[in-house]
Amino acid sequence: MPYLRNFALFSFFFLGLISAYAQNTFEANYDESKVQPYTLPDVLKTAANQKVQNKTTWETVRRPEIIRLFEENVYGQMPKSYDRLTYSVKNTNASAMAGKATLKEVLIEVVHNSKPVKINLVLFVPKKPQKPVPGFLLINNRGKDNTDPTRAHKSDFWPAEMVIDSGYAVAAFHVSDLAPDDTSRYVNGVLQLYPEQLTANNGMRAIGAWAWGASRVLDYFEKDADIDAKKVAVVGHSRGGKASLWAAAEDKRFAMCITNCSGNTGAALSRRRFGETIRRINTVFPHWFTRNYKKFNDNEDALPVDQHMLIAAIAPRPLYATNASKDLWADPRGTFLALKNAENAYGLYGLKSNLPAESPGINQPIVNSQMGYHNREGEHDLTAYDWSNFLKFARVHFRK
Ligand code: GCU
Repeated sequence: MPYLRNFALFSFFFLGLISAYAQNTFEANYDESKVQPYTLPDVLKTAANQKVQNKTTWETVRRPEIIRLFEENVYGQMPKSYDRLTYSVKNTNASAMAGKATLKEVLIEVVHNSKPVKINLVLFVPKKPQKPVPGFLLINNRGKDNTDPTRAHKSDFWPAEMVIDSGYAVAAFHVSDLAPDDTSRYVNGVLQLYPEQLTANNGMRAIGAWAWGASRVLDYFEKDADIDAKKVAVVGHSRGGKASLWAAAEDKRFAMCITNCSGNTGAALSRRRFGETIRRINTVFPHWFTRNYKKFNDNEDALPVDQHMLIAAIAPRPLYATNASKDLWADPRGTFLALKNAENAYGLYGLKSNLPAESPGINQPIVNSQMGYHNREGEHDLTAYDWSNFLKFARVHFRK
């Protein structure tokens, strides 16, 4: 009997330990009063401790430093070259959307080390005499039916008609063309072209691959006479929004960045440890970020960056971030604070962000500002409301 009792006690203790571990590891904090004090790395202080006073030092010293820190520690190296990019228009429809748009389904093939990766682009261009037109490119991380080229299926995740009616081109590709979103299959895509990435501690993984793909689509846009490649907004939701931020930071040709509910390792500050944390994201999605990033599990303060610096690296280009009121997992306040803490980089260009001192209320979009923001009423999603504000934001900034 004592043996049984000891066993029961031991099991109780052991299970208690496991559940405490699970709680410590994964239970998210949603209580603002429990956010511990933290110090963010200074956006405008170089590694050599020099204060950045002007955009020349920013562009030649500090911004490249920040990009390198994100490559090294978070998203991984970005391959700088490829051998060949070709494209072919697989299908067109000159009277799509009841004659309002031209559909082009374009197959973009990128070859490196004799290996190809194929990106299937769905593109609608508005029928209007003035060409080229600015456009929106969505990094689609949800079902392919969201971007149905036939328009038999329509979805607010990619409300192509709404964008066309506003006079912009609208395009999308699916993340699985670059790296399937799966812990083992993610290697079956771009990473076949750059196998050295897989062995490097700072090698890119899925999110880096998706961002790389967005840049290859931009390479294609530069060859498409219908598209004003100097006015392309890269858009992503959630994990796709982490990729849209990284794409815009890495590739200055993106004229605008839109990051919707991107949360942890997207637009939200990691040091707040509010909602999703670095340990949780690295554990559940080990195929998204570098091996080096795992060093920062429960160790956010050791990171030489935080996400406000990624936003700063996009300056002076317009950036719009969103949240949803019920999506605390993605830390709406932490996103707003990341934008606030990137204001000084925009300031180097004489640009004011016009963001209020504190997060605006629910459904109070701020579009007349170089950094825009809204917190939509509702759940984690990309909706027609979100898109209608992206379009307002574009109207302000693409007109300039
Ligand atoms: C999970 C993940 C988030 C991600 C989200 C999504 O919730 O933890 O980091 O943003 O999926 O992509 O919808």
